[in-house]
Amino acid sequence: MPVLTVKFPSQEVRYELKIEKGLLNHVSHEVKNVFTGAKIAIVTDETVYALYAKSIIKDLEAADYKVQCIVLPPGEQTKTFDSLPHIYSALADFGLTRSDLIIALGGGVIGDITGFAASSYLRGISFVQIPTTLLAQVDSSVGGKVGVDLPEGKNLVGAFYHPLLVLIDPLVLETLTDSAFADGMAEVIKYGCIKDLNLFHRLTELSSRKEVMQHIDWIIETCCTIKQVIVQTDEKDLGERMILNFGHTLGHAIEAYYQYEKYTHGQGVAIGMVAISRIAESKQMTTDGTTDQLITLLQQHRLPIALEDLEDYPKLLPYIKKDKKNSGGSLSVIVLVDVGRATLHQTTLSFFDSLDTGGTA
Ligand SMILES: NC(=O)c1ccc[n+]([C@@H]2O[C@H](COP(=O)([O-])OP(=O)(O)OC[C@H]3O[C@@H](n4cnc5c(N)ncnc54)[C@H](O)[C@@H]3O)[C@@H](O)[C@H]2O)c1
Ligand SMILES: [Zn+2]
Repeated sequence: MPVLTVKFPSQEVRYELKIEKGLLNHVSHEVKNVFTGAKIAIVTDETVYALYAKSIIKDLEAADYKVQCIVLPPGEQTKTFDSLPHIYSALADFGLTRSDLIIALGGGVIGDITGFAASSYLRGISFVQIPTTLLAQVDSSVGGKVGVDLPEGKNLVGAFYHPLLVLIDPLVLETLTDSAFADGMAEVIKYGCIKDLNLFHRLTELSSRKEVMQHIDWIIETCCTIKQVIVQTDEKDLGERMILNFGHTLGHAIEAYYQYEKYTHGQGVAIGMVAISRIAESKQMTTDGTTDQLITLLQQHRLPIALEDLEDYPKLLPYIKKDKKNSGGSLSVIVLVDVGRATLHQTTLSFFDSLDTGGTA
C-alpha cells in the first residue's frame, strides 16, 4: 500500500498517511500501531455514521477499546464555533484523558472541527484522521490545518495540529453524491494547475467519475505527495504553502457571502480559480489560453465556472478584505504563470477591480 510519511523535523512531528482500498476494515489494526491507550471518541456526521461508523466501532470494540461516537449534523454549518461546546462536553462526559484518542471520521468539515477540538481539548489530545470525501482525502487531511468558521468568515479560528495517522480508503468514495465527488475534483484540478502539468493532462483524458475512480489511487497519492512536499517546506503557510490557496481567496468569499449554503467549498474554489485566472490573464501575468483550458477541465468534471448571479461578484469584495492573506492593505494572491506553475503575487484590493464582471473585462 502507498505510505507517505509527513515530517516536520523542527517539531519532531512525523506521521504516516496510508492509502489502500479496504483500509476501513483494518482500522483497529492500524490504530494499535500508533496508540496504546484505552478510550477512543469517534467524531463523525450523520451521513457517514449511517454508512461506515458501525463497522469501525465493532472492529475497535473487538480490539478491546472503549468507544464513544459523537454524531454531528452533516454540512458546512456544523463547522462553526458554536458546535464546539457540544463536542467538548461529550468528550468530557466520556471521561477522555490525554492518553486517549479521537478519530475524525468524515469529510473536511469533520476533519477540521474534530482536529480543532483535539488541539484544544485538555490542551491537545492525539487524533487520527479517516477522511471519507475526495476533498478530505486529497487535501484537508494532509498538512495539519484545523479550525472552524465564524459568521464573519471562513476558518477564522483554528490551529496547526497534526494527526497521529491518516487512513485513506478510496472505496468510501463510491457512496459520495456526484456533487461531493466533484467538490474533491476541484482540489485535484487545483493541484494540476499549481504544480503538475502531467496530472492536469491526465485529468483531461478522464471524462467521467467512473474513469476517475479507475485511477483514483494514483490521483490521491499524487495530490497527497504534492501537498506533503509543499507543507513540509512551509508548515505555517508563510511562503510556498500559499500556492495551495489558488482560487481560495475568492472561493472562501463566495462561500461566506452565501452563508455556506449556496456554494460548497469545491464549487467556490472552482469559480474562484476561473475568476483569478481571468484577471491575471488580462494583466498578462498568466499565459494566454490558460483560463480556457481550466474552464474546459472544470466543466468536464461537473464544476461551475462562474457565479449564477453575475451581479453578485462585487459583493464579494468585503469578504476578500477580511481574508487571512490580506494584511495591512497588502494582499497576497496566487496566480498561474501557466498550467502547472503558480506564483505568489503581492498586490492590493485593486487587483480585483475587474471582478465586477467576473473577471471578464
Ligand atoms: N484543513 C485543510 O487543510 C482544508 C483543506 C481543504 C478544505 N478544507 C475544508 O473542508 C471542508 C469541506 O470538506 P468536504 O467537501 O469533505 O465537506 P463535508 O465534510 O461537508 O462532506 C460533504 C458531504 O459528504 C458527506 N459524506 C462524507 N463522506 C461520505 C461518504 N464516503 N459517502 C457519502 N457521503 C459522504 C458528508 O456527510 C457531507 O454531507 C470545508 O470546510 C473546507 O474549508 C480544509
Ligand atoms: Zn480547498
